[in-house]
Amino acid sequence: MKHLVAAAVLVLVVVSVPLCVSQLHFPIHEHSHVTFPMIKQRTLYKEYSPYWELEHNPKRKMALLIDDMQEEHRTYFSPRAVQQAQKILAAFRRHNLPIIWSFWSRTYGDGRQGSVDRFYGDTGLGSSANPCYVWEADGLKLMPEVAPHYSHEWDNTVASDHYDMFSNLGKHGESVVWEILKGNDVDTVIVVGAWTDMCILTTALSAFQKEYDVIVPRDAVGTPTPHGRSALEILNSVCCHTFPVAEIVHFLDHGRHPANETVASA
Ligand SMILES: *[C@@H]1O[C@H](CO)[C@@H](O)[C@H](O)[C@H]1NC(C)=O
Repeated sequence: MKHLVAAAVLVLVVVSVPLCVSQLHFPIHEHSHVTFPMIKQRTLYKEYSPYWELEHNPKRKMALLIDDMQEEHRTYFSPRAVQQAQKILAAFRRHNLPIIWSFWSRTYGDGRQGSVDRFYGDTGLGSSANPCYVWEADGLKLMPEVAPHYSHEWDNTVASDHYDMFSNLGKHGESVVWEILKGNDVDTVIVVGAWTDMCILTTALSAFQKEYDVIVPRDAVGTPTPHGRSALEILNSVCCHTFPVAEIVHFLDHGRHPANETVASA
């Protein structure tokens, strides 16, 4: 019994001494005159944009992710956004570069339950306006303008039940999208489609976390919410370029950024 008490006291002392010491230290830090360079410079932290340019890595290998461009989302895109998506898709086909499609696959009563279901809860169930689910009869169908044509392209189609395209897992728990990118030695990921402030935002951040250079062309995305522009501003400031499709296509076709084209031909 004595030993037990002694052991308990020892444990208490071992646990509480560092706590006391760390509590004692807080006031000392607060009142100290040491100014950490980080704190001083924090007022300078404003807005960032990528330091890298396409031309910094002329041999870069790009992949195109076409995120949830399906009939359910058609009205979220301006006609121009669809055209721009078609243009970049055509360029990727021309250069024989990898393209991956996803379509949001959740339907009401499909038996799955997850964070997205809990997030939206009962919102808009009666008016077919709960964003977790596809409501329209042809809602799952990829928009023909930007859908796969060839059988090898259909192999790169992913049924999605996560905002982040990378979170959709295959039979063995692998990220389907990431496996395709790794298998193709990709280093740069372009994300187009919908919704800008959900799937595009999360997929771009996820690609960035997996060490890819990321571009979200601002003229080839869409969302029904008022947050599209803010999402692009945040993305540009934390992880990716948002320059328009034309600049990417020009780089693919000519190996240069259009801004440098006049210099090159002069
Ligand atoms: C233009 O070319 C220069 C020199 O090659 C390069 O450093 C710069 O990043 C290029 N500009 C763009 C926008 O790619």
